[in-house]
Amino acid sequence: METLKNRILKDGHALNESVLKVDSFLNHGVDAKLMQEIGTTFKEHFENHGITKIFTIESSGIAPTVMTALQMELPMVTLKKQTSKILSGDVYQTTVHSFTKAVDYELTLSKKFISPEDNILIIDDFLAYGEAAQGAIRLVEEAGAKVAGIGIVIEKSFQPGRKNLEDKGYEVYSLARVSKLGKDIIEFVEE
Ligand code: G4P
Repeated sequence: METLKNRILKDGHALNESVLKVDSFLNHGVDAKLMQEIGTTFKEHFENHGITKIFTIESSGIAPTVMTALQMELPMVTLKKQTSKILSGDVYQTTVHSFTKAVDYELTLSKKFISPEDNILIIDDFLAYGEAAQGAIRLVEEAGAKVAGIGIVIEKSFQPGRKNLEDKGYEVYSLARVSKLGKDIIEFVEE
């Protein structure tokens, strides 16, 4: 998605060789117009996949996902990372390890938001190691539902997330695929 790549080049900063700061438009400050265009692009790609619901993971996945859900006219569910007392009870839960943040969390989905007939699109802001997406997949499949595909806003293609997911047979569609980060360097995969 050219608009997104241009925005990353204009306002993104490589903090080091592995972390891209995009907090002026994606995960702190949020550019709603850009999110809308992201929603349109995901819709164009996924509209014939028979999707019934869109899942994301709190918190930075929410903005692009809500725009996609709006445009696809589908229900959206945010998977929780912290289980509140209100959520306890009938839930699916799985432990996810974040290599980027060096923490574990319990990804949680209330059973009432999924059924075996569902065909789920999973959307997230970043794909690094693929651990969050694989956690979401475990929850969907534990419920007996299907994963239709994984939509990613920014994929770090030099990390193994895409390969880990594709090796298990899942489709990954990323709007910007970053091949290299470094001091004053942001490069994309040639497509
Ligand atoms: P994985 O799911 O692909 O394995 O990724 P990993 O755990 O390693 O990293 C996921 C978390 O780290 C996400 O935040 C994601 O937004 C953030 N992240 C990963 N790489 C980058 C990066 O290069 N730049 C920025 N800005 N963030 C990155 P999170 O823990 O889910 O928090 P939230 O921001 O969604 O609340």
